[in-house]
Amino acid sequence: MRRKLAAGNWKMNGTAASLEEIRKLQSILPNGGPDVVICPPTTLLFSACSATEGSGIQIGAQDCHAETDGAYTGDISGEMIADTGARYVILGHSERREAYAERNRDVRHKTSTAWHAGLTAIICIGETLEERETNATLDVIAGQLASSLPDAITADNTVVAYEPIWAIGTGKVPTQAQIVEVHDFIRSKLVARFGAQIADQIPLLYGGSVKPDNAATIFEAENVDGALVGGASLKADDFAPIIHALADS
Ligand code: PGA
Repeated sequence: MRRKLAAGNWKMNGTAASLEEIRKLQSILPNGGPDVVICPPTTLLFSACSATEGSGIQIGAQDCHAETDGAYTGDISGEMIADTGARYVILGHSERREAYAERNRDVRHKTSTAWHAGLTAIICIGETLEERETNATLDVIAGQLASSLPDAITADNTVVAYEPIWAIGTGKVPTQAQIVEVHDFIRSKLVARFGAQIADQIPLLYGGSVKPDNAATIFEAENVDGALVGGASLKADDFAPIIHALADS
């Protein structure tokens, strides 16, 4: 049985007052449900870790530097993230690939550094609308998987999130057949490279406009083990039904 995971990416949203949403979420989580991770902005990592201590919720960051330390003004390292008590880090999100020109090899280096700090990496991959419309999706996914994932992968240190860029924050969701096709393809690529024993245990998340009303259908896919949720993770009342749908899947 693969573990199920619901991860919330708050992006550049949230102040100390937003911790209330995390406290509220704790009170409405299903017993024995899936793993839940909240990735608030860096400023809230410490306080979010204290607020969730002893609860089922884990905390993650949204990025880290590829180096362990040094003269990188404004950046944070994997070790600093781990020092807050956070256990996860999102890497290679399309917003970072786009806005900061992060390449697959940057994501690979960051992943190795994050692992070294004891963090689990949530590695994001996904195609643009143009790539989708020119039937390049599977080639793009294959290339991102090949170049973004280091060899020392384990089922504990990595989660892969498929996020079609055109579905992020747009309200557009791929058809269920498209989700199934890409997730099955990702699993087969992981099996081919890392062997079934490791690959079958790596959680694969779908991300891009996951909402309370579409989550249950998305989770029906065999190789969808959870979701990476942006907008709908900001409010406990929106995120909780998604987590419940995953628990019931
Ligand atoms: P969204 O974002 O759920 O708001 O579409 C998903 C993401 O960027 O991870």
